[in-house]
Formats: sequence, structure tokens, C-alpha cells
Amino acid sequence: MQPSNRGTFKSRFGFYMAAIGSAFGLGNLWRFSYVTGINGGGAFVLLYIFFVGAIGLPVLISELMLGKITRRNIIGAFKWKPWGQNPKSRWRWLGVLALLASFVVLGYYTVVSGWVIHFIVQAVMGQFTNPDAMPEYIIDRLMSRGYLQILLAGVHIIFTASIVSRGIQEGIERFSRVFMPLFMLIVVGLVVHSLFLPGASEALRFLFYPDFSKLSASAAIEALGHALFTLSLGFGAMVAYGSYLKPEVHIPSEAVLVAGLDTILSLCAGVLIFPIVFTMHADSGSGPALLFKSMPVLFRHLPLGYWVGVAFFVCLYFAALSASIALFEGLVTYFIDEQKMKRTAATLTVSTITCILAAGSALSGSLFKNIRLGERGILEIMDQVIINWTLPVVTVGLVLFVSRMREKDKEDQFVDQKSLVSVRMFSTWKTTIKYLVPSIIILVFIFQLIVNIFRS
Ligand code: TRP
Repeated sequence: MQPSNRGTFKSRFGFYMAAIGSAFGLGNLWRFSYVTGINGGGAFVLLYIFFVGAIGLPVLISELMLGKITRRNIIGAFKWKPWGQNPKSRWRWLGVLALLASFVVLGYYTVVSGWVIHFIVQAVMGQFTNPDAMPEYIIDRLMSRGYLQILLAGVHIIFTASIVSRGIQEGIERFSRVFMPLFMLIVVGLVVHSLFLPGASEALRFLFYPDFSKLSASAAIEALGHALFTLSLGFGAMVAYGSYLKPEVHIPSEAVLVAGLDTILSLCAGVLIFPIVFTMHADSGSGPALLFKSMPVLFRHLPLGYWVGVAFFVCLYFAALSASIALFEGLVTYFIDEQKMKRTAATLTVSTITCILAAGSALSGSLFKNIRLGERGILEIMDQVIINWTLPVVTVGLVLFVSRMREKDKEDQFVDQKSLVSVRMFSTWKTTIKYLVPSIIILVFIFQLIVNIFRS
């Protein structure tokens, strides 16, 4: 099978790097903490870890493998047959669904990235360390100012689009390679500091003591959705990443590394944020604002707090930017490959659609305050409801598709001749994606439907 010929080595390399970094992003810090907060802590964390192991890891292997075998993006991959292309494949709509999910995520990811820009400015202006300022309210003020959020999101889109349209991702990625380790260092340092806060023991209990009575009714579907989201699964991002992998790369070991590191980072984020939340006596279930309410308070009493604050939000922004670039690039590639657009036109199209979606979620705290589903505003509806339902659907389709691919192709990618263990692991993985993953997801769906029926 000839690899499809798209992208030069440079942009391939850029995309490859972006995809590695794509798993680590706002999902680990911002989303993990807020979703854990609203779902009652420990028992939810346990569920999330279970889903990462039982679903995330095998699916990550499947996505990477699909990309590596077909050498195509997600739309092309679903049309793939060992002996050629099948444009009328009935799997096609899965790729479309994955792209829709990318648009939705990019829509609100952009708004939250805009918040991060705002916090960099506040940090530089000394608002976190000024004894008269109340940094915990910065986010509330921002959320009620819809137009400022649109402006900030616009700035973020312009950054992202100009990088993608010029195909200079690898420049940014070189940057990220410096920022990512620095970020991890800052996070680990702050975690140690957090552990000495008065609220630390309560926080650790909240995070790691599984009290199943505190689980919300939708916890299962939310833990599943988050496990997929944080590993960038169900978007086609990892399929693209796989398609750029060198032939000799051993996929399962790569996947274990990515999933393991990503989970550890999320748990660190929890241990960092919740002690602050409990020390402040703030509400752990306060939703998407949680990270932005708690972090700034930390810097006031910290030695070198001003600089640590600036560095923290700059690093967070880079994490958000590299994830946005990966999502954006995925969509642009689709318009170039499938709709035969020029790169500039494709970039403009993606930017425009993203702007509209971003405006919707940016105004969710002001103009559209009254559009709500239960307690949730537009940003949360986009983030949770859509993600929680779309990603698992794409995932089930994807694993069933991969299950039907030629045995030999998969074996070549999975089994490492040097280790006997991989032979046994191969058959475990095959059974997992064929039976376990679809059944767990369908069970979670049925459970959620029943809950919804009884709730209404
Ligand atoms: N996993 C990323 C995070 O944790 C978010 C994300 C989801 C993503 N899907 C993606 C990033 C696709 C890049 C590409 O923040």
C-alpha cells in the first residue's frame, strides 16, 4: 500500500510533534479539575482511571495503528481497503462526526485559551500579588464580559491560524519542547507547595477516597468522555499522528507512554488545585471557572509569586496553543484533501466557523446567560454534552473498523519479535477492542439514557 502523498517532510514533522504534545493540554489542568469537582471527587477519579486503562489505552493503540497502516487522515482512513479506496464506505460518516467534534472542541478551547491570555496580562500587571486585588474574582468579571472574551478568543484564533496557514508548526513545536518540561517542573514544584496548605488533607481525601455516594448520576459518561478527550481520542488527531509515525516505531509502547504520562499529569493537576480550593473554602463544584479561581490565589503568598504566576500562565498558554494548532491543522487538512481547497482558503473557512462557535460559548455567561440545560451554560453544553456523546460513538465505530482490518497488518504493528509477551498482549488487545470496548461504552450509554428518562 502506497502511503498517500500529502504534506512535505517539514509539515509532517511539525504535525508529528504537535500530535505528541496534543494529549497534554487544557484537558489535564482546566478540564480534569473542573469535571472532577462537579462529579464529587474520588470515586469519579477512580472511574476515570479505569476508563483510561480499559478504553483509552486500547483505543489509542487502535487510532495510531489505523493511521500507521492506512497512512491517511481520519476521513481517508475510513474509506480504506487493503486493495484500494472505497469512497462509498459506510464508515465514512464516522470521520465526519470526528471532524464535527474537532470543531466543537476548538470552538470552546479557543475561548478558554482566551481566558489564559487574559490571565497572562493580569499576572504581568501584578494583579495576583497586589494585596488589594482579589484575584479569585478576575474570572467572574471576565465571564460576565462576553465581548472581551470574544476579542481574546479572536486573538487566539489569529495566532493559531497564522501559524497553521504558514505551515510553521515546527517552529512552535520547538518552543513547546522547551516549555513543556518547564511547565511540568513548575507544576511539580507547585504540587509540593500545595501539599503544605491547610486544605491539603481534605483535598487528598476528596481526590483519592472513593465515596461512591457522592457520584453524580452522569459520572460514568463524563469519566468516559474525559478519558477519551484528554488522550485526544475520537477526533482523528491520533490517526493523523499515527500516519506520520516512522515504520519502526512500536505502537503499544508509545501508547502506554502517552497514556501513562497524561494521566499522571492530570492527577498532579488535581493535587495542585484542590488543596487551594479547600484552603479558600471555595466550592469545588464551581465548573469551568475552577482553575482560574484557585490558581491566582496561590501566587500571592508564594516567594517569587509574581514570576511563578507569569510563567505558569505562559506555559499553560503554550499547552493550549499547541493543542489548538493540532485541532486546527486536522480540520484544515480535511478541507485541503477532501474539498480541494487551497491552504489559505481552508484556514479562512476553519477560522470563520471557529469564530462563530467561539462567540456562542464566549457569550454563555452574558448575552446567552438564559440558554441553559439544567445548570449548564452554552460553553458547558458544548464541552460536556457533545463531547460525552460524540467521542464514544466515534470510538465504537473506530474499534469495530480496526477489528475488521487484516490480521496480518495489525500483527506487524503490534507484535515485537523480540518479546514474547507482545504475542499474548496482541490477542488480549484484539479481544478488548472487539468486545470489551464496545460493550462498556454501550452499557454506559444505556445507563445514561435510563438516568435521563428518570430525571425528566
Ligand atoms: N487532549 C487535549 C487536552 O487534554 C485536548 C484535545 C482533544 C486535543 N482533542 C484533541 C488536542 C485533538 C489536539 C488534537 O487538552
